[in-house]
Amino acid sequence: MADDPGTDVPLGIDFGGSGIKGAPVDLDRGDFADDRQRIPTPDPSTPDAVSEVVAELIGSFPDASGPVGITVPGVVRHGTVTTAANIDQSWIGAEAERLFTAASGRAVRVVNDADAAGLAEVRYGAARGAHGLVIVTTLGTGIGSALVNDGVLVPNSELGHLEIDGYVAEHRAANSVRESKDLTMEKWAKRLTTYYRHLERLFSPDLFVVGGGVSKRADEFLPMVEIDTQSVPALLRNKAGIIGAALYAVEGSA
Ligand code: BGC
Repeated sequence: MADDPGTDVPLGIDFGGSGIKGAPVDLDRGDFADDRQRIPTPDPSTPDAVSEVVAELIGSFPDASGPVGITVPGVVRHGTVTTAANIDQSWIGAEAERLFTAASGRAVRVVNDADAAGLAEVRYGAARGAHGLVIVTTLGTGIGSALVNDGVLVPNSELGHLEIDGYVAEHRAANSVRESKDLTMEKWAKRLTTYYRHLERLFSPDLFVVGGGVSKRADEFLPMVEIDTQSVPALLRNKAGIIGAALYAVEGSA
């Protein structure tokens, strides 16, 4: 695919808190087909401002003429964003697919960021070949989640917003909380234990995949998370959103 520009190479775009990143994706290999481009996230990151950046990114890959998938860190229902826990509030109710399509002139599909990461980890990464229920969590500014059962995504699970012991889970256990409260890995692992135990009780998953940027340090905290379910660090790291977005654009959720 990488050697065959101008065909139908899909493009994945990941809208994050600090950067909007995109790359053409080779879905046979589950990897970038070309170098990633990054543009800083505008401040404020309103739908119109982000649409402009998205159009610029898409324009910088003239050879990737296939479907375009874009992640958003919020609930996405039929192309419309309905929550905005960690992004500008003006996203609530924004018709993201319509806006991005209008700004770029390309048909675009929009997917929750953790759902995209989940699809990618199950197809190409840490949960490749796994059977049954896989829960992929991303530990970052918030906690994102993807529920994937036998390869089929149940979208918008939003398990970072479960209320546990009177707290919204991501307000206790996100990686941003570890950083802002300067928690030791031991203390953070205790909070993660409470969180993952709760998920175990609710879903009896077969596998947890622990993603987000901090997953590259998984050896410093994952062994201290005391749960019964097998849990493994994500493999695709910061590529998962882009790869999953492109996969979603081509195949949808299954
Ligand atoms: C949002 C989710 C998102 C997660 C990770 C949460 O606060 O509600 O939609 O997947 O953060 O970005």
